[in-house]
Amino acid sequence: MKGLILSGGKGTRLYPLTYTNAKQLIPVANKPVLVRVIESIRDAGVEEIGVVIGQTGPQIREVVGDGSKWGVKITYIPQDSPDGLAHAVKISRDFLGDERFVMFLGDNVIQGGIGALISDFAHNDWNSQIVLKEVENPTAYGVAKLRADNSIEHLIEKPENPPSNLALVGIYMFDQNIWEAVNSIKPSGRGELEITDAIQWLVNAGYRVFPHVHKGWWIDTGKPTDMLEANSLVLEELTPTISPESIIENSEVDRRVTVERGARIINSIVRGPSIIGEDTVIENSYIGPFTSIYHHVTVQNCEIERSIVLEHSTISDIGTRLHDSLIGRNASVRRNDEKPRSLRMNIGDHSNLWIV
Ligand code: DAU
Repeated sequence: MKGLILSGGKGTRLYPLTYTNAKQLIPVANKPVLVRVIESIRDAGVEEIGVVIGQTGPQIREVVGDGSKWGVKITYIPQDSPDGLAHAVKISRDFLGDERFVMFLGDNVIQGGIGALISDFAHNDWNSQIVLKEVENPTAYGVAKLRADNSIEHLIEKPENPPSNLALVGIYMFDQNIWEAVNSIKPSGRGELEITDAIQWLVNAGYRVFPHVHKGWWIDTGKPTDMLEANSLVLEELTPTISPESIIENSEVDRRVTVERGARIINSIVRGPSIIGEDTVIENSYIGPFTSIYHHVTVQNCEIERSIVLEHSTISDIGTRLHDSLIGRNASVRRNDEKPRSLRMNIGDHSNLWIV
């Protein structure tokens, strides 16, 4: 069995963070979502993985390399433009051949790994397996309507009037019959070749598509609120460790906190679940639960809760608690004591600022 990760696309809903970087590389609990996807495919026993890349391909190649760091072999499959998930499958034909494969969207985070799903697919004669999850806002996803006997009645992509609350999770398994399906479908109203339509084609043609309903949590990290939610859920499951190469001085760090190599926590309180990244400095500050501070960040005289701060940023002396925030790379958030006393901003396109 081979693996296919879709890591192209634009990530417009995560602007401005994704102007300069691939959305799949935004870290959740200090590990890029894409790396979490690679690890869950590897942990399920699949070592040969194709990664579909688009405009942000160079950054993805730089982080993932040949995959040897995670014990897998990566083959990159460039996609000229994001013409849809089924288009991404189509262009991966040479890599996949006629083998069965698991496809995992590079921006999805799922609880519990995919080992059991892959084993079920290997031990049954299904032509495809899809994963469904009950959600509150099905209009944002592909949606499946099941019959009373649990077979698929029909599937529809981002419907205005959803026939059920069962969303398609970004994990799919296929055999070689998917090739005829992706070659038979036409672009949807939004101009994309939809994988949902390809699966509907399989169902219509009488192939066996097994719908597995997932019981744990699942997050499609498309929007900032989803990133924060995924961050909280993953932090809750992290086994906390304090690196012996970190320094904690005159501080209260509770047992659900992970402190990475080279981090320094001085005169501060850190409450878990949270993570403090490599070579990051926390001084005279309070870091609250569900916060991930990535590497080489400086936080001084601040309070931060339920937030994600990316690498090489500085947050200092802001007089109010920061919460539910996403701070990008190399950003600086500081107090301005210069006259005239005013707010001063230098923020990117599509940024959001909430002022009290
Ligand atoms: O997350 C689950 C949902 O993913 C499903 O419920 C939907 O049925 C499915 O269409 C998909 O919807 P999204 O709108 O969330 O897909 P998105 O455009 O975010 O793309 C998902 C991943 O695939 C993302 O990592 C980018 C990558 N991608 C996307 C497109 C359109 C590609 O590599 N190539 C593409 O052409």
